[in-house]
Amino acid sequence: MSGTASSDQRGLAAARISGLAPGKLFGLLGDNRRRGALDLAVGTPSAPTTSPVAIEAACEAIRAGANQYDHPAGNLAIRRSIAASFVPAADPETEITVTLGATEGLAVALLALVDPGDEVIVLEPCYENFVSAIALAGARPRPVPTRAPEWRYDHAQLRAAFTSRTRAIILNSPANPSGHVLSSGELAEIAELCEKRNVTVISDEAYAAYVFDGISYASIADVPALRDRGVVIGTLSKSHAVSGWRVGFLRAAPEITRLLRQVHVAVGGAGVTPLQIAVARAAESDPSFWQPADTLAAQRDLATKVFGEAGYRCLPTEGGCYLMIDIRTVTREDSETHARRLAEQAGVLTAPGTCFFTGKGGENLLRVAFNRPVGLFDEVRRRLTAFSLSG
Ligand SMILES: Cc1ncc(COP(=O)(O)O)c(C=O)c1O
Repeated sequence: MSGTASSDQRGLAAARISGLAPGKLFGLLGDNRRRGALDLAVGTPSAPTTSPVAIEAACEAIRAGANQYDHPAGNLAIRRSIAASFVPAADPETEITVTLGATEGLAVALLALVDPGDEVIVLEPCYENFVSAIALAGARPRPVPTRAPEWRYDHAQLRAAFTSRTRAIILNSPANPSGHVLSSGELAEIAELCEKRNVTVISDEAYAAYVFDGISYASIADVPALRDRGVVIGTLSKSHAVSGWRVGFLRAAPEITRLLRQVHVAVGGAGVTPLQIAVARAAESDPSFWQPADTLAAQRDLATKVFGEAGYRCLPTEGGCYLMIDIRTVTREDSETHARRLAEQAGVLTAPGTCFFTGKGGENLLRVAFNRPVGLFDEVRRRLTAFSLSG
């Protein structure tokens, strides 16, 4: 599965490497970014932009000497701020741990709560790193399909996926790549199954700031039946456009937090001191810091319009920062071939849907990241028009 493992002729790779997600997307991006292709493939945000207050606070914190380890669970000021963003508020002392992005949080949660040989349910299509984090823990993914355009799971298939080997389920709402927001009914059903089977819920809420069209959204921390058996993974990467700062967090009940912190100390050691201080200062100076930016729905609409005009069928997106488009209305090519041709001939990078499935799937889908400046979509429109005219 992994290029790394197969190219390891000296036999250095640990067995778990072969379970890591193949990192297909970065292979497909290849040299096209350097050649000036517009990147709508990766989720790295360029709109919204980073808070100038946070940037200033980060520089000031470094100059003032905040350059050594802080508390392993995270700087207390940022933990207080994160804790207060939950309803009901979490306890910063016992329930919040600052991690090196959601990526470390995900690995920590799986390493702390899942054993080798266990099964972990994922709703597919899913973010590639879920598969990697499961592999690091020595466990196996158990995919449950969700189907376009609503991306809901089938009740019977979900129930059948819970077996005696199931140790955890990873949720991701709003989802990458589908944009599906789990409804209260879906959360209630998952809660009931997890309670019955004593299964842990690991909820990646990286896109919680972006829920559109008045759709009601719940963190698992809002659901009493899930709050104490679950781990919330959060991050400022996308919501605050600081993906390079590596500021994420875990929220869990105190007895789970104690386990998470033990692994976090072993894996990440601590968070990045001056950047945690910067976030805490920015949050202190702006009461709306944890509130969602409200421009993303307009960016979604624009992306939908531009790709729709080019003939693609755009699927509805309830939240997050990705649009899924069905390419069947434009081509018979599979999504990897079409994404490559769009990159090379149109100069527009998109992510093939196949990146988000553990087996077959996504051959007719592309994922488009729309957390980009509005002006960029004029150029995307121009390039797609030239591409379709060229046949
Ligand atoms: C669902 C999901 N979780 C986690 C991450 C990574 O977040 P972080 O930058 O905080 O590690 C991403 C990034 O694309 C994501 O899509």
